[in-house]
Amino acid sequence: MKNKTLVISGATRGIGKAIAERFAKEGVNIAFTYNSNEEVANNLAKEWSEKYNIKAKAYKLNILEPESYKELFKEIDKDFDRVDFFISNAIISGRAVVGGFGPFMRLKPKGLCNIFTATVSAFVVGAQEAAKRMQKIGKGSIISLSSTGNRVYTTNYAGHGVSKAAVETMVKYAACELGKYGIRVNAISGGPIDTDALKAFPNYEEVKSEVEKRSPLNRMGVPEDLAGIAYFLCTDEASWITGQTFIVDGGTTFGCKE
Ligand SMILES: NC(=O)c1ccc[n+]([C@@H]2O[C@H](COP(=O)([O-])OP(=O)(O)OC[C@H]3O[C@@H](n4cnc5c(N)ncnc54)[C@H](OP(=O)(O)O)[C@@H]3O)[C@@H](O)[C@H]2O)c1
Repeated sequence: MKNKTLVISGATRGIGKAIAERFAKEGVNIAFTYNSNEEVANNLAKEWSEKYNIKAKAYKLNILEPESYKELFKEIDKDFDRVDFFISNAIISGRAVVGGFGPFMRLKPKGLCNIFTATVSAFVVGAQEAAKRMQKIGKGSIISLSSTGNRVYTTNYAGHGVSKAAVETMVKYAACELGKYGIRVNAISGGPIDTDALKAFPNYEEVKSEVEKRSPLNRMGVPEDLAGIAYFLCTDEASWITGQTFIVDGGTTFGCKE
């Protein structure tokens, strides 16, 4: 995996950060994005470059403007000689999800639309740009983060749940059409993971204790729990795996508590 390049959105914190560091440890060069935390991003790029002896660079990206992926990849082309892996991970929160994150009767088209743009359209444009570069190499791996909120009722999560269902289907279509270039496309569907995104839930404490109750492993997920599968899906060990969604949920979806 040494000297290959991962492009990943939203790697300043949470799951994106854990995934990027997992790849960096293996000698993979990292082109990653931030939205607001520029200083944190630049510090991480410096830390990973020095610690793992790789090239790491941070770029600004707003996934509410998916077309900006085109300019982003042109910038990445100046700094990295190849793109092997693309992971669509970033997610919006706060004001941008008003009308999209909430009970059914309070959903509004604008909020729903923002979540769809950030989840589905951003995946599409990012994956298209990545695939153009991967075609030159003759192989590649593309991953979208998803969540089990499209399988299990999660309070206030309708907007995200529906968009995650949509992106999982988009992954299958992309996999069907990109396989001929040696490009594999998969989704990783995480159960509740302890990150800022989840801490922003008004009922965070309730979700946490419910997850601990539902998981036979008696704990909530941590960002590192998704990093291993993301790395595996980009290795040749996964060379016949495409068009799939992998559920990593600590057993919570089935709720297999004795
Ligand atoms: N947490 C969970 O329970 C869970 C479970 C399953 C799946 N997931 C999925 O995993 C992914 C990561 O979630 P997370 O919990 O790690 O999120 P998080 O901790 O909230 O981190 C969000 C990341 O996205 C970036 N970001 C925020 N707004 C953005 C925007 N408008 N444009 C571009 N980037 C933006 C942030 O950058 P800045 O720091 O610069 O703002 C940050 O790097 C998401 O796709 C999420 O749906 C999460």
